[in-house]
Amino acid sequence: MENKIKEVVELIKNSKRTTAFTGAGISVESGIPPFRGEGGLWNKYDPIVLDLNYFFSNPRESWSVIKEIFYDFFGTAKFNRAHEVLAEMEKQNYLSAVITQNIDNLHQEAGSKVVHEFHGNSKTLICTSCNNRFPITDNVFKKLPPKCEDCGSLLKPDFIFFGEGIPQQAYQKSIEAAQNSDVFIVIGSTGEVMPASQMPVIAKQNGATIIEINPNTSNYTSGITDIFLQGKAGEVLDLVMRGLE
Ligand code: APR
Ligand code: ZN
Repeated sequence: MENKIKEVVELIKNSKRTTAFTGAGISVESGIPPFRGEGGLWNKYDPIVLDLNYFFSNPRESWSVIKEIFYDFFGTAKFNRAHEVLAEMEKQNYLSAVITQNIDNLHQEAGSKVVHEFHGNSKTLICTSCNNRFPITDNVFKKLPPKCEDCGSLLKPDFIFFGEGIPQQAYQKSIEAAQNSDVFIVIGSTGEVMPASQMPVIAKQNGATIIEINPNTSNYTSGITDIFLQGKAGEVLDLVMRGLE
């Protein structure tokens, strides 16, 4: 691992543009379970709760599970060393952006400024009729399903449900970053969910060196990954940061 870390540090130091691509794995050390694999949420809950049609036809049932997963449980999670290192790398101009599949806001809370949220963010709710957005406050969940205070319609979390389109701006900026990075660091993703999972592939097609950080192999490892740093994101990124300092 040591030699690989040295190689990665040199690559980042000599890179014109480095982008990070993160999945649920980067937040596991913050206590947020992944969706798949060991302790995965989809082993415990039915993903149907994030299906748009199910949500509209069963708002109360869907909301009670969404609240349990994303608000009761996730709500108090704090950023970890991995998020901190990416924010530090950005500050020292070693990293130009984070493309994240995560909705937990932990990159921003760790100090990252340029974060493209491919699947939206759980910290705001959006009205399904007038599109007004509301911050999450305690009384929002007093009565489920939460309703819009402006027009009375159903509110939904401002993250992407299965069957929903990707936020236009996040999508464009992610594609642009993937097409123009010479180093692309893939952290904590199985690479299972399209179109997010295509970002590392686009980066590779445009000549990027793919560095992957994950304790397990993923859909990328035997394919596009050039350097596989097998380990936990917090530990591996801490070693990378020490090498950069
Ligand atoms: N450090 C780094 N990676 C880790 C760690 C860790 N400490 N612990 C687990 N992992 C890895 C797992 O090995 C796995 O490859 O994180 C990955 C988690 O995979 P998924 O749960 O599939 O997460 P992700 O790839 O982000 O899922 C994509 O699926 O349900 C949708 O919208 C949801 O954004 C999510 C998307
Ligand atoms: Zn409304």
